[in-house]
Amino acid sequence: MTQDFGFTLHNSDGMARRGTVHTGRGDIQTPAFMPVGTVGTVKGLYLDQVKDAGADIILGNTYHLMLRPGAERMDRLGGLHKFIGWDGPILTDSGGFQVMSLSALRKISEEGVTFKSHVDGKLFEMSPERSIEIQGLLGSDIQMQLDECVALPADHDTMKSAMELSLRWAERCKTAFGNQPGKAMFGIVQGGDNVGLREQSAQALVDMDLKGYSIGGLAVGEPQEVMLAMLDVVCPILPTTKPRYLMGVGTPQDLLRSVAHGVDMFDCVMPTRSGRHGLAFTTRGRVNLKNARHAEDTRPLDEGVNCTASNSYSRAYLHHLIRSNEMLGMMLLSWHNIAYYQHLMAGIRDAISNNNFAQFAEETEARWAAGDI
Ligand code: GUN
Repeated sequence: MTQDFGFTLHNSDGMARRGTVHTGRGDIQTPAFMPVGTVGTVKGLYLDQVKDAGADIILGNTYHLMLRPGAERMDRLGGLHKFIGWDGPILTDSGGFQVMSLSALRKISEEGVTFKSHVDGKLFEMSPERSIEIQGLLGSDIQMQLDECVALPADHDTMKSAMELSLRWAERCKTAFGNQPGKAMFGIVQGGDNVGLREQSAQALVDMDLKGYSIGGLAVGEPQEVMLAMLDVVCPILPTTKPRYLMGVGTPQDLLRSVAHGVDMFDCVMPTRSGRHGLAFTTRGRVNLKNARHAEDTRPLDEGVNCTASNSYSRAYLHHLIRSNEMLGMMLLSWHNIAYYQHLMAGIRDAISNNNFAQFAEETEARWAAGDI
C-alpha cells in the first residue's frame, strides 16, 4: 500500500520548524529546498547528482510540459517520473504564474487562462480543472491550484480581485483533485503586500482544509522586509500540522530568514541560473567566477561543501571555463550551487533539531558578511 500524504512536525525552535512531508513516493525532510526541473531537467545536472546532493524532491512545470512534449503524450510515455528517471516525489506548479510571465496574448477570466504558446504560437486554454488534469497526467505528487499572481507594486483592487479569483479557483481545484492517496493539492495564499488581503486569503484556504499551503505572490518586486512581514501575517494563520511552501524563493539569505518566519519548503531557479552565469553561492558568501581575481587562484571553490564540483577543481579552472563560455563551467557551478543549497538546508534542519537555530542563522549570516577572503 502506498504511504498516504501527510506531515509530521518533529520540533519547533521559535517559528522555525523541523518536519517530514510524507508522500506515496517517499519522504521529504523539511525545511527543504526543491531544485527546479522546469522542462523535465534540473538544467546542467544529472539527476544522480541532484539526489546525491541531498534533494528529496524536484519541481516540474505544467506550463512548459503541456506545451512540450504535451500532457497526453507524457501520460502515454508513462508519466514524468519514468520519462526523466526520478523515482522520488515531484511537485508541479499549476501554470498560471508561468503563463503570465512567459506567454504572449494571455487573457484571464473567471473560467481560466487563455494564452499563446511561447514555443509555437498555438492558442491554449487552461481552466483550474484542466491544470489539475494535466498535473495528474504528468503524475505529480504535490500539485498546485491554478492561481493569479500579481507583480508588486500593484493597486488594492488588482490584488483583491486576483486573491478572490484564486480562492474560487482553489475550490474548483480541490473538487477536481478529489482524494488521491499519497498525493496532495496545495492552495496558494495571495493578497499582494496587503495585510488584510493576506489574512483573508490564508483563512479561507485553511477553511477548505487542504493538505498543504503555498505562499505565492512574493519575491515579485517587493523588498525582503515586505516579504518577511507577509510571512508573519500568513504563517500564524496556517495550521501547524500542514506543510508551508514559499514559492519561487530565493537567495540563501531569503531561505534562512524565511525559515525563521515559519516556512518549510522552497524552490528557486537561482542556484542553477546563477551557476550558468558564473555566480557561486558558498559557505563564505557569493563568489563571481568571472572576476579576474580568480585567474590564478588554485584553491577549490568551497571546501565546506561535500561535492566534487566544490572541492576538486581550482577556481582558476572554473574562471577559465566560465570566461570561455564552456558548458562544463556552467555544469560545475550549477552542481556546486545545488549542493550548497542542500548543505545549507541540512545545516538549518540540524540547528532546529538542536534548538540552536537563532545562533546558526547569526553565525551563517556573519560568515556571508565577512565575504570570500
Ligand atoms: N511561483 C512563484 N510565485 C508563484 C505564485 O504566486 N503562484 C504560482 N502558481 N507559482 C509561483
